[in-house]
Amino acid sequence: MCGIVGYVGREDAAPFLIEGLRRLEYRGYDSAGIAVSTENGIVVRKSKGRLSALEEKIRGDHMISGNVGIGHTRWATHGEPSDVNAHPQPSASGRFVVVHNGVIDNYLELKNHLIRRGYEFASETDTEVIAHLIERYYNGDMVDALNKLQTRLKGSYSLGVLSADNPGQIAVIRKDSPLILGERGDEKMLASDIPAMLKFTRDFYELGEGEIAILSREGIAFYDSDKEALSKSTFHVDWDMDAAEKGGYEHFMIKEIMEQPRAISDTITPRLDGDKVLFGDFNLTAEDIAGFDKIYITACGSAYHAGIIGKYVIQSLTRKSVDVELASEFRYGDPIISEKTLVIVVSQSGETADSLAALRYAKAKGARVLGVVNVVGSSIAKEADVTLFTNAGPEIAVATTKAYSCQLIIFYLLAVYMAEKIGSVAETERRRLLEEIKALPGKVAKILENKDDVQRFAALHFNARDVFFIGRGMDYGAGLEGSLKLKEISYIHSEAYAAGELKHGTIALIERDSLVVAIAANRRLFDKLISNVMVVKARGACVCGVTWEGNKVIEESCDFALYVPETEDLFAPSLSVITLQLFSYYVASMRGADIDKPRNLAKSVTIE
Ligand code: AGP
Repeated sequence: MCGIVGYVGREDAAPFLIEGLRRLEYRGYDSAGIAVSTENGIVVRKSKGRLSALEEKIRGDHMISGNVGIGHTRWATHGEPSDVNAHPQPSASGRFVVVHNGVIDNYLELKNHLIRRGYEFASETDTEVIAHLIERYYNGDMVDALNKLQTRLKGSYSLGVLSADNPGQIAVIRKDSPLILGERGDEKMLASDIPAMLKFTRDFYELGEGEIAILSREGIAFYDSDKEALSKSTFHVDWDMDAAEKGGYEHFMIKEIMEQPRAISDTITPRLDGDKVLFGDFNLTAEDIAGFDKIYITACGSAYHAGIIGKYVIQSLTRKSVDVELASEFRYGDPIISEKTLVIVVSQSGETADSLAALRYAKAKGARVLGVVNVVGSSIAKEADVTLFTNAGPEIAVATTKAYSCQLIIFYLLAVYMAEKIGSVAETERRRLLEEIKALPGKVAKILENKDDVQRFAALHFNARDVFFIGRGMDYGAGLEGSLKLKEISYIHSEAYAAGELKHGTIALIERDSLVVAIAANRRLFDKLISNVMVVKARGACVCGVTWEGNKVIEESCDFALYVPETEDLFAPSLSVITLQLFSYYVASMRGADIDKPRNLAKSVTIE
């Protein structure tokens, strides 16, 4: 997510803006900028890279002196990290300047609408569309302009707007993307998150959905979308800075687990056009798809586990053969690659050395390479022939959660997209699958609402010596991810096993009170899985079943049951993995582990 700050007061704005942006650096960003209302109009300074590059750019710059300003740290979604794509974004005349946090789903439609009316665009951002629209709608009243704007925008946004016509004011509006306001006497401040203002005040206003505020030294005026004046009371926080950066959560990991409904929704929504899946400039024809003699998915760690799920879904819906390979093995296994091969490289960071090496190997062999990446402007995103971005936002915890969940979503959408192109799924079935994908954010939210059930189970087993995750089909794929989560943050030894494979050796490890987590979210394979559960139970194991709500029969064979909402078998991993993430988090938390920064691990493994 991007970071927004704004200041209106008696002091020079620039130092407040830089200090506020520094307090938001933890959110992750790739460029930064500020704009200040000065006696010569609005002055904008922005720079790709770290905040220090921006500070260097404005050091000694007397042009950027004024008491009203806005600032921004950008987490790129539309357009690579660059000076021109950095915010603030000016309107055509420069009379209006905007900072934005969020994703405008219909920006391309709006941009083309404006281009047809003679507007020229300097950047690739969705935010520049907003700046031009504000100028187009402004008729002397900023509240009217913003209310008109919000009738056109689809997606999420919190905006800070400077206007040369009102140099002593900052206008703000928000939808689905938080915006907090604060004051200290006649000084007013705004930010996308509390840490930016904690040095300034501990009492804040939260702007509500669709609400507008005008900040000036005279006060903060709030309006609803009917331009009715609103009166608001402040809320007080006692957080220290560390807690504030985590939004009040104890760890980034649980914050990011809880962000998954929003992240999944942000990954789905921009790619749906009615009942069709669209991937922007990524277009495959039926001939392209039929022409692939091989599809590989290659990645590391959790991204590899997402690829395993992706294999099942793409194969199931397109009947195209898919192989999943560990990126660290891919180029040494002498894979069969030609110009007819599609290689999908999955990576949250986009910088994993093994995955980047696999990408380069595949390209050198003539393959068409598709990236599935979270970080815009990363090496894998740049070197892939085309990249589908997961809109998870910055992921700080070393153990991935929301990015992994968004990778699954990309695979579901890609499989439905390909099936539609080649007609491998009946239209009614395809529409039903899409409706089920759209329902996933709400179902994930429901699991998170019942997280205490998982915490209770974790409290029984946080001192386990070994944990076995078993499942069949895609449930096995979910088990691999659950096992990795547990290992990497709690340091408990764990293995994931295809349930049918246990009897071929590993069951020798099962003894009295061995803990087994049986993922039983696949209806088609449920009875088979329960047979495997009975086998480990007969050897004294303690078994927790993870299955769909209402499937109480699992309690006849398992010692503990955790339930997830019903969904399509193909999408069940998106739900069972939430329970497994929570289990790992609570176990690690009860063990006092260093959850966000586990020993020996890095967020991005840039060495082979
Ligand atoms: C996941 O929790 C781990 N941190 C690790 O397995 C990670 O998924 C792997 O290193 C791949 O990283 P990437 O997605 O950034 O390429």
